[in-house]
Amino acid sequence: MAFASRFLFSLAATLLVLCTISGTSAQLVSTGLSVVFNDVYYYISPYSSGKLVISPTSLSSVPSVYGFKPVTVVQETVTLAGIPSLLSNWTAIDDVFQPAFAEAIFLAGAVGVSITKQDMVDGSSSLVLPLSNPSIPSGPYFLEMATGHLYPVYRLYDDFAGAFTEALLQTPNGTFQPLSAKIPGSASLTIGVPSRHYFTKTADKPLAGVRIGIKDIYQLAGVKNSNGNRAWYNLYPANEVTGTAVQRLIDAGAQIVGSQKPSQFANGEEATADWVDYHSPFNPRGDGYQDPSSSSSGAGASIASYEWLDAALGSDTGGSIRGPAGVQGLFGNRPSHGLVSLDHVMPLSTALDTPGFLIRDPALWDIANSVLYGDNYTSLADVKPKYPTTIYTVGFPTNSSSSLAAPILNNFVDALASFVGGSVTALTLEDVWTASKPPAAGNTTLSQLLNITYATFISKEQTALVRDPFYADYAAVHDGRRPFVDPTPLSRWAFWR
Ligand SMILES: *[C@@H]1O[C@H](CO)[C@@H](O)[C@H](O)[C@H]1NC(C)=O
Ligand SMILES: *[C@@H]1O[C@H](CO)[C@@H](O)[C@H](O)[C@H]1NC(C)=O
Ligand SMILES: *[C@@H]1O[C@H](CO)[C@@H](O)[C@H](O)[C@H]1NC(C)=O
Ligand SMILES: *[C@@H]1O[C@H](CO)[C@@H](O)[C@H](O)[C@H]1NC(C)=O
Ligand SMILES: *[C@@H]1O[C@H](CO)[C@@H](O)[C@H](O)[C@H]1NC(C)=O
Ligand SMILES: *[C@@H]1O[C@H](CO)[C@@H](O)[C@H](O)[C@H]1NC(C)=O
Repeated sequence: MAFASRFLFSLAATLLVLCTISGTSAQLVSTGLSVVFNDVYYYISPYSSGKLVISPTSLSSVPSVYGFKPVTVVQETVTLAGIPSLLSNWTAIDDVFQPAFAEAIFLAGAVGVSITKQDMVDGSSSLVLPLSNPSIPSGPYFLEMATGHLYPVYRLYDDFAGAFTEALLQTPNGTFQPLSAKIPGSASLTIGVPSRHYFTKTADKPLAGVRIGIKDIYQLAGVKNSNGNRAWYNLYPANEVTGTAVQRLIDAGAQIVGSQKPSQFANGEEATADWVDYHSPFNPRGDGYQDPSSSSSGAGASIASYEWLDAALGSDTGGSIRGPAGVQGLFGNRPSHGLVSLDHVMPLSTALDTPGFLIRDPALWDIANSVLYGDNYTSLADVKPKYPTTIYTVGFPTNSSSSLAAPILNNFVDALASFVGGSVTALTLEDVWTASKPPAAGNTTLSQLLNITYATFISKEQTALVRDPFYADYAAVHDGRRPFVDPTPLSRWAFWR
């Protein structure tokens, strides 16, 4: 009896200990840290790039915040005398690195103990230390003194054009989490971009370090979509997988920095009254209050507004890349249909939807297209093309038009004609149709023929594939109510019923 009660007592004690352990296993996880360094806002990633062997006192002269110190890693084979020129090159090609990171330099091949060298960068002195880890890419880092871990540095920018719906951090395995940083900015998000020095372009990684925004209709692992609709964002959980198109960019080394505003459900919306759930992004041309066009609105506005962003992935069903590219002076096109699978992308019309870039640099556009479309893309970058010499213009204003754009457009097309040694012919599609239509078409005009074709394509499919399941899912958790939907998608959906 005495034995039994002692056993029970010790069992109770064990249970108590177990309870205490489970009580202390709360999860405490870093989502990164924001700092200001010489008036520049930075974000310190929570994902270590690797570890250094350091002596706790070796960097006592370098400033520190929460035990993190700004340092520079140099893997290049360079002499002490060559460092200033190397680092001044770095500031020219990277907006993240600044010379103050070079107060402490871990240099591959540096031997012995630390050296203090004067006049390194901007006349300041640097502590040069041997680099014990050959696998950490060159660049600026924050070094955690307590552990020796080096954390990547992101520069933070204000999304003043209102182009993004969510700022994202790409984790080392290619999934995503929201970027937890906010710098001054009026009702705007903060976007983080990693140093360009961490990435080396190779044949396998032609987009290494290329910073890309993604239209918020493409699914990314770990990210919630909005499709431009707040109820949608709040209703559905984060995606578990990244679709084929975006995964190709990630596999090629791209750095995805955020999701970007589509007009709602990728239907056309005009600034600003149509944009109820989110404010329209700002097209920076003219007075900065221009309509960015749609539906790849954030994609176009971001590339037109931000030098720190290299490309944006949009989509074109009936002009959703061409429109924003045209009104913001960017490269962008509607590619042939079916060049890459659009799995895990919100459909407008599966028969017409196409993915493509909005971009400023045509050379990068060529590389990005070859990644996105794979074998279905033929690069002509190294070919001297034989240019076509007949240029057809459709809907161009005449010079007698009062449109201010008339002389700009006509000068452009004249210059293009003289460049290719050709000529300009105005084309009216109705006339071409009348002259060439099959007899069976009778007197049907082109506009009679096409009339509601596009409207039918987009509304018939989107009501079935997007609206109906959305309404049902929403009703199931909201007492049978309907979610709020902006006027444009609502009227387009009503067209089909
Ligand atoms: C810096 O860039 C210049 C011009 O591109 C180049 O000539 C020089 O070798 C570079 N310096 C270093 C140390 O890489
Ligand atoms: C990828 O990394 C993140 C962050 O560490 C982690 O939460 C997630 O489970 C990882 N996913 C996969 C598929 O490995
Ligand atoms: C190329 O296009 C075809 C036709 O749409 C498609 O079946 C194929 O998967 C595409 N190839 C690649 C590499 O995506
Ligand atoms: C329109 O005006 C421009 C500039 O004056 C001129 O170069 C061009 O030839 C004119 N085009 C037409 C169609 O008259
Ligand atoms: C087509 O138009 C022509 C010329 O206006 C007219 O003579 C003819 O009757 C029309 N045909 C039909 C089928 O409406
Ligand atoms: C287009 O279709 C609508 C509805 O079917 C019809 O009322 C209208 O007359 C058509 N317009 C043309 C130009 O054919």
